[in-house]
Amino acid sequence: MRILLTGSSGWLGQTLAPRLRAHGHEVVGLDPNPSDHTAVVGSIADRALVRAAIGDFRCDAVIHAGALHKPDIERFTRADFIAVNVTGTLNLLEEAVAQGVGRLVMTSTTSLMISERIRAGVNGGARQAEWLTETVRPEPRNIYGVTKLAAENLCRLFHQEHGLPVVVLRTSRFFPEADDMAHAISQSDANTKANELLFRRLTVDDAARAHLVALDRASDLGFDIFIVSATPPFSPADAEALVADAPAVVARYFPDYPALYAARGWTMFDAIDRIYDPSHAARRLGFTCEIGFRQMLDALAADVGGLTG
Ligand SMILES: NC(=O)c1ccc[n+]([C@@H]2O[C@H](COP(=O)([O-])OP(=O)(O)OC[C@H]3O[C@@H](n4cnc5c(N)ncnc54)[C@H](O)[C@@H]3O)[C@@H](O)[C@H]2O)c1
Repeated sequence: MRILLTGSSGWLGQTLAPRLRAHGHEVVGLDPNPSDHTAVVGSIADRALVRAAIGDFRCDAVIHAGALHKPDIERFTRADFIAVNVTGTLNLLEEAVAQGVGRLVMTSTTSLMISERIRAGVNGGARQAEWLTETVRPEPRNIYGVTKLAAENLCRLFHQEHGLPVVVLRTSRFFPEADDMAHAISQSDANTKANELLFRRLTVDDAARAHLVALDRASDLGFDIFIVSATPPFSPADAEALVADAPAVVARYFPDYPALYAARGWTMFDAIDRIYDPSHAARRLGFTCEIGFRQMLDALAADVGGLTG
């Protein structure tokens, strides 16, 4: 397929573009920032540019990863977020339908499911972890989440009204940098990321792989929204214990973790107050992440063995 990839100069886009090519696809990158993977330098908010990018290159599919996202809240206005994330998505959907594009995959975010109440977590008096699935009614707490939810709803509308196959991937975090200062203050970046693989993170490689699977499956699926995150080891029955004593719960599932962490001076979060459940993606999309907490521990064990042996 020839694929219009928005956000092609970004962290995900630069990982995804070579993978798409390795699978035999042609990639037309579109991004305001130039890069090796970007053929069209410009904004999805520019309808004429979107029309030309889809039409001139005769694209068969769109992967829509371009966005203003959480770190951009500091630098851009709410109106910018609406122009890029809402109007930009609308432009892509309208041109996709007008020009007979066969499918669209949109990168969304688990962040839109985090209300102020959920974000307050243990500090807000939460006694059990939130078990988050696609059935939770989102109440986004910032302009990023509000505009991503609007974009998801536009995708649903275009599927309903025009039959366009659209798969929405609500990915959890795959930022290369530490993103949550509350955790990052007391823990090293690698330690924080390792802990987050239990409940709210995936690798950028897994994120890219999910997009390839979604692209393949879109026509069969019609429309759906999937949480994409490393498989958590927990069950909803753990929700209270995860807030009361997360290290004990994690040790129950991974008896080797305390020693491996101690060898590095790493610590577990005292409480885990949310879990993104990717089981709908496992069942219906046929996608699970390759890297989770177990694989990370195995890598630590191999590394510690090398260091000590
Ligand atoms: N990084 C994460 O942890 C994370 C988590 C959940 C969801 N996401 C989503 O994944 C997608 C990719 O994020 P990323 O981490 O690669 O971020 P990124 O900032 O590295 O990449 C986003 C890209 O979108 C581009 N972009 C910005 N405005 C645009 C416009 N008007 N038109 C076209 N492209 C535009 C940016 O220039 C950038 O290259 C985004 O949709 C983001 O919301 C990211």
